[in-house]
Formats: sequence, C-alpha cells, structure tokens
Amino acid sequence: MNTPSENNRGQWGSRLGFILAAAGSAVGLGNIWRFPYVTGENGGAAFVFVYLLCVFLIGLPLLYVELSLGRASQRNPVDAFKATRPGSPFFLTGFICLAACFVVLTYYGVIAGWTVGYFIAQITQTQLDFAEYTANPVAVLPVFALFIVGTIYIVSAGVEKGIEKWSKMLMPLLFFLIFVIIVRSLTLEGASKGLSYYLDPDFSKIDGKVVLMALGQAFFSLSVGWGLMITYGSYIPKSQNIVTSGFWVAIADTGVAILGGLMVFPAVFAFGMEPDAGPGLTFVTLPAVFAQMPAGWFIGALFFLLLSVAALTSSISMLEVPVSYFVDKDKGARKTSAILVGVFAFVVGIPSALSFGASETLTKLELFGKIGFQGIIDQVFGTLCLIVISLLLSLYVGWVWKPKNAIREIEEGCPWFTKPFAGAVSLASVWTVFIKFICPIVITLVLLDGLGVDLFGDAAATEAAKPE
Ligand code: PFF
Repeated sequence: MNTPSENNRGQWGSRLGFILAAAGSAVGLGNIWRFPYVTGENGGAAFVFVYLLCVFLIGLPLLYVELSLGRASQRNPVDAFKATRPGSPFFLTGFICLAACFVVLTYYGVIAGWTVGYFIAQITQTQLDFAEYTANPVAVLPVFALFIVGTIYIVSAGVEKGIEKWSKMLMPLLFFLIFVIIVRSLTLEGASKGLSYYLDPDFSKIDGKVVLMALGQAFFSLSVGWGLMITYGSYIPKSQNIVTSGFWVAIADTGVAILGGLMVFPAVFAFGMEPDAGPGLTFVTLPAVFAQMPAGWFIGALFFLLLSVAALTSSISMLEVPVSYFVDKDKGARKTSAILVGVFAFVVGIPSALSFGASETLTKLELFGKIGFQGIIDQVFGTLCLIVISLLLSLYVGWVWKPKNAIREIEEGCPWFTKPFAGAVSLASVWTVFIKFICPIVITLVLLDGLGVDLFGDAAATEAAKPE
C-alpha cells in the first residue's frame, strides 16, 4: 500500500494539527446552536446527563472504530470498507456516510449563513427580528451562498494547511469569548433558575425519545457516525496515538457543548423566555444578552464571527467527506469535485433556507414528529442516519473486519492499549466488549424505540400519566 504522501492524499502535519482539525470539525453549530435547543426540548439537565453517558460510553468507542478503519485503509469511507474486507456489502455504509454529510451540509450552511447575517447586523448595530430575518429569502440566501463559497474555497485548496492553521488561531479565541459571555449570562438577575434547569436533573423526564435524541446529539456533535473520522483518520501518520488524540477531541467537543448551554440557559430564564424555543434559541436570546453589555455590539460581533468560523471548520469537513471519495478515484479531482458538490449542496439547501417562514408549505410540512422541512431532514439525516451508520460500523468492526485488526492498528502509536491495567484487563479488551456487544445492542434498542417500537413501555407510562 502506498503511503499517503506517495499517493498524494495528504497527511496531518502534527499531532496537534490532527487534534485541532478534528476538534474543529466536532466543535461547531452542534455545540453552541443545536445542543442548547435540543436540551431545552428534551427536559434540561436529565438530557445533559444521558448525553454525557452517550458521548463517553458509545461515541468515544465508535470514534476509535472510525479512526482505526480510516488509518488502516488510508481511504475515504466507501473504499475503507472495500479495502479492509473486499466483497463485503458493508461498503454501502460508506455511501450512507457520503449522503449524510452532503445532506446535513445543505442545511448546516443555511444556519451558518444566519450567523454571518447576525455578524453583519452586530457590526452595523441593526436589531434583527429572528422570525422576520429567517423568513426573508433575500436576506438569507446570499449569506448561505457566501458561506458555501468559503467552504468550497478552503476544501479545494486542500484541508491541511487551511484547517490546521485556522483552528490553531481561532479555537482559543472561541473559548475565551465563550467564557466572557458565560460570566455575563451568569451574573444576570434571575440566572439561577436557568442554571438549575440546566444542571439539576429530573430523572423522571428520561424516556426512549430523550435517549434517542441524546445519542443522536452525541453523534452529531462528535462528528461520529458520518465517516468523517474515517476520512480524517486516513490522514493520520502511523506513529500517532489515536487513543489519546481521540480522547482530547471528545473532551474539547463536550466541553464546548456544556459551556454552550451555560451561556444560553441562564440568559433564557433571566429574560423570561422559554427553553424549548427550538432552533431560534441562540439567535433570539444571545443578542438580547449582548444588548445588556457595555460595548455589547462588539462582543456580539466577535461572537457571531467566531460562530461562523466554528461552523466553517465543520462544514469544510462535511464537504471533505464526499470530496475525498472523488479524490481517491482521481487525484486531480479535488477542485472540480469541491465546486460541483458545493454548488449542488447550495441548490439542495434552498428548500431548507425557505422552511423558516418564506414558504408556507415547507415551513408547515410535518413528518416524523417534526414540523418544517429543515427539522425533518435534520431528524432523518442529522439523527437517524447517524445512528444507523454507527450501528453498521460497530457491527462491521466487531464482527466482520474483527476487533483484532482494529486493535493492531490502534496499537501502532499506542502500545499500552493492549497492556492490562494493574494486572487486570486491558483497554483493548474493554473496547472489544463495547464494540461487539454494548454499542450495537444499545444503539439497536434506542433506534427501535425511536422508530416507534414501544420497548421501554413509554406508551403505557404516558397513558398512565394522562389526566382522567
Ligand atoms: N460536529 C459538528 C457540530 O457539532 O456542529 C457537525 C459536523 C461536522 C458533523 C462535520 C459531521 C461532520 F462531518
């Protein structure tokens, strides 16, 4: 097999480069925009608790699945399956990965476009009414286009230098700004109600739907279950330690998600708003917080700029997944495929952009318990698809490719993975149990429940809880 540099696929310049690029993919709108509103729609602190369990017990083991598969095969998600088990139908999973990344990019770009619009509004000190703004195609389509153009530009130039360099500069700044805003949010009068909503779990709120949403959010946020980590893993040199690098990515991602909630909920309650406001939560409440700060417009502008950049490092990685597929077919195809896939994503994203009031039909469309076109495709591709992919991935590595092959790959760069801790079991053995049994069983149960099979007796419980 050729080395990546020989076959021109590219490679991360340093360990930190990979961690920051992968964290740049993971940390995005999912942490600061999606996490708070999904938490708000699913009961607050109890959801956060389940989410954390999902990240570390299911998401992290699967992160290692993707990274080891990517590095072992040095291929895009489709060919990673073909290279490791020729003839197995599991390569079809790779196509679902490509589809999920592509479809989510189509609406991710729309929301990222709003962040650009809000940045401009903060700079020009214009008050935006969220409902009015998002329902206006003349306002949202150009910023959506601008964002896609930026994504195409960076992906066509090759990810390594752009992403590594940008991530190094912007991630620390993002952290700093989040802290500034948290301090302001927590010192607002009435903030404590928001804090207890966010941090005091009421476990009676946990049901099958909450677990499904928490698992979906964990996959969405970690960028696990998209084939993205297969792609990024394929650029990792053999000498690097996948285990610790992956762990840092998970810590950075979860940290920013938790901080995102800490920023939003105290302010939501302080301003007497509803925590289950849905996708508008961040865009409605944070500008209200900025308006209370001295030089708030400036902090607000920086915040939305950084949110746009966080979204950009994520959308680049989403575009990179289908592009890597074409690049592996034809080394010279990077630029053309980035442009074609990107422009197509813009066109397919237009209905999402119009589903926030511009088109009544798209706004009121109802399916899978979600209202609105964007909400529906988020449910299908941004939640269900990821869960299906993750299930197939764990079955593939657990039972078809076999954990021993993945372990051999992980061991390179991390020799202690197979060494028993204190004479007991090794991390590799624990991981094997998770991949072969725990992950597939938990994911199947959650999936079936989410699809309406009444496994956990929720229907009976809901029925019993109904007032006479
Ligand atoms: N993890 C990103 C977020 O939380 O915003 C979303 C994402 C980016 C998912 C890239 C998948 C991906 F390939």
